[in-house]
Amino acid sequence: MKVNLGILASRIRVEEKLLIKEAEERREINLTLVDPRKLIWDRSQLSELDVLLDREISQSRAYHVMELLSGSSVNLVNDFRTVQLCGDKAFTSVKLKKYGIPIPDFRVAFDRNSALRAVEELGYPVVLKPVDGSWGRMVAKITNREAAEATIEHKSNLDSRFHSIYYLQEYIETNNKDIRAFVVGNDVIGAAYRESDHWITNAARGGESKPYPLTDRLERIVTETSGIFGGAALAVDLLESDRGLLINEINCSMEFKESMKVIDGDIPERLLDYTIQQAQVSEEVARNQCPA
Ligand SMILES: Nc1ncnc2c1ncn2[C@@H]1O[C@H](COP(=O)(O)OP(=O)(O)O)[C@@H](O)[C@H]1O
Ligand SMILES: [Mg+2]
Repeated sequence: MKVNLGILASRIRVEEKLLIKEAEERREINLTLVDPRKLIWDRSQLSELDVLLDREISQSRAYHVMELLSGSSVNLVNDFRTVQLCGDKAFTSVKLKKYGIPIPDFRVAFDRNSALRAVEELGYPVVLKPVDGSWGRMVAKITNREAAEATIEHKSNLDSRFHSIYYLQEYIETNNKDIRAFVVGNDVIGAAYRESDHWITNAARGGESKPYPLTDRLERIVTETSGIFGGAALAVDLLESDRGLLINEINCSMEFKESMKVIDGDIPERLLDYTIQQAQVSEEVARNQCPA
């Protein structure tokens, strides 16, 4: 029997092209491209699908479509709770800390004076980020009190509901590299360094991928993290520190075009395998996937 697979995406990047090509080559898949900009919702929407793979670039659209489908007969990759957790750096950190996963020390504040106090608590340098950011945008390293005051004042004047939330992290000296590992359920597909001339190493900011051999310690921390996030399909970003590997952030609808150049595992193939498996997961199991 064919699996009715939907791919949710308003922009078709290299990653989506690869996933579409892979899906079209498989006889067991009946593919529908779902552009959220064209949807007008009612409850019967998308009910012909067995599973929907979220590749939407707009987090707010992805949230809403996934939430509207939660509890319906359409299985989701990833489920709404996982998307919500990954989409907010504060939620991610609190969750990981609760389960004892090593992470950089962090604070969340909701007012500029509290944010300044939190900076002083963490000590310099400190990193300030939007809770819902990506591509390294508005990620700031603050090295002294005056810079902290200025950055926090600027942020307090920005007009977005998320800019009233101050997410602060201990700065980790990484020699301008971090690690991106790809995991589906309990299987780590592969990992790659991202190296740069700058301390911000995102591929979107010019970070270059280099091979990173899979080690037991990496596999352990990444599969443990995937378990906590519901056995999901994730890109887990890590920082190497003098106290070992620390999880920096987790991405749900991940980019992989740069990392895949140095990873042996076939990321689009594995992601589709996983998505098809999820099409068979019963509704109840899917709903209980992500522990509170
Ligand atoms: N606490 C930190 N210490 C050292 N480097 C960091 C820290 N936080 C972020 N970085 C660097 O900045 C990059 C972007 O930060 P990240 O938290 O991943 O935000 P984004 O969601 O915008 O990618 C990371 O890939 C890493 O290279
Ligand atoms: Mg990142």
